[in-house]
Amino acid sequence: MKYKPVKTAVIGSGMISDTYLHNLKDTFSIIDLVGCSDIVREKAEAQAEKYGIRCMTNEEILSDPEIEMVLNLTYASAHYEVSKAILSSGKHCYSEKMMCLTLEEANELKKIADEKNVRFCTAPDTFLGASQQTSRYVVDKGLIGEPVTVLICLSRGYHMIKEDKDDAVRKYSVMREGGGIPYDMGGYYLHQLMNIFGPVKQVCGFSKTRNQTRPYLNPRHTKFNEDFFVNTPNTIASAFELECGVYGTLLISSEHSTVENVFRIIGTEGQLELGDPNEFGEKIYITKNGSERLEFPISHPYSEGSRGIGAADMAWGIRTGRPNRLSFEMGYHALEFIKALEESSKSGKTIRLNTKFERPCPISSEYYNGTSMERNLFLYQQ
Ligand SMILES: NC(=O)c1ccc[n+]([C@@H]2O[C@H](COP(=O)([O-])OP(=O)(O)OC[C@H]3O[C@@H](n4cnc5c(N)ncnc54)[C@H](O)[C@@H]3O)[C@@H](O)[C@H]2O)c1
Repeated sequence: MKYKPVKTAVIGSGMISDTYLHNLKDTFSIIDLVGCSDIVREKAEAQAEKYGIRCMTNEEILSDPEIEMVLNLTYASAHYEVSKAILSSGKHCYSEKMMCLTLEEANELKKIADEKNVRFCTAPDTFLGASQQTSRYVVDKGLIGEPVTVLICLSRGYHMIKEDKDDAVRKYSVMREGGGIPYDMGGYYLHQLMNIFGPVKQVCGFSKTRNQTRPYLNPRHTKFNEDFFVNTPNTIASAFELECGVYGTLLISSEHSTVENVFRIIGTEGQLELGDPNEFGEKIYITKNGSERLEFPISHPYSEGSRGIGAADMAWGIRTGRPNRLSFEMGYHALEFIKALEESSKSGKTIRLNTKFERPCPISSEYYNGTSMERNLFLYQQ
């Protein structure tokens, strides 16, 4: 192969590592997956055995001169420390969302990445998938006319969070700083919004934590029925203006789960209903003015669970010298949006965002399925 696969390892062998390890091993030829680690050694051992890779410690990964890229699949509260260690060791870093808990941490990580001349970007990468890329195509081609407004309504009750017997930290990570619904599920919506429209200009809104104290629900948990403290916003209503002039509203709560999630772009000639941006192959619908609501055919590749596509895209960028589709700047902007929203809620003011980013290069639809599909990542035309 002309392009040598990028030797890659994973830190954090928890729940989502399964999808990643599968795809890094089998779906993307540009990745050479060598090992995984976890502070809970047994988790890394189990995943290493399942995927035929090495069970390593973090230190072994970071000191291995052959490993070029490391994925940080730890939970949000560990992202900063682990990404800092990866970047400081001179390796490219792909982190799960969000990149860290504060903008100060993000700035520090970027500084290290620049000093070490390595790449650093964050998930979600679902917007590179079939459904979300088709949606971008619909908007870019003017099929709903000129976009005017965006409507996002997102809910996911906290009782839906799966409970392990013993893993108290992950279980309630959505109730903790950096893991709450605007960061966790909200991240998917914000990234797809920004993928389609580019940067946000300003935001205002209300944000609060309902029921800051609540009990552990799982009778198997050692602290069953004892209270724990929620330190992340779980109910948000906001309005925003995009740099391109489109207005939008965002309603998010993890205090209910009965509302169907809505992601809708309304234009002068019709509206587009996007699928859940946490998924790859969701159906999308278009309603032209005065016409029936129709399912729009998915025209782009990667409709199966393809997490890891962002890391594979970065690996292609490393080998060919072009930028990643997932940029640091875009991940930072999404974090800045949430922080601005929290600030607006406190101050009662509309907050202008300080940063901008380039819209990511769309994924080509040249190859729809089969193993040639990866060529769509190699192709890079703005
Ligand atoms: N679970 C999902 O469905 C899902 C989907 C998409 C994205 N994500 C994102 O992926 C990330 C991980 O989520 P998850 O559900 O797999 O969490 P998880 O808690 O199941 O896994 C995280 C793992 O990281 C390990 N870890 C923590 N600190 C570490 C350190 N310093 N060194 C090595 N290992 C460490 C933990 O022991 C744990 O096994 C989060 O950012 C989450 O938002 C999760």
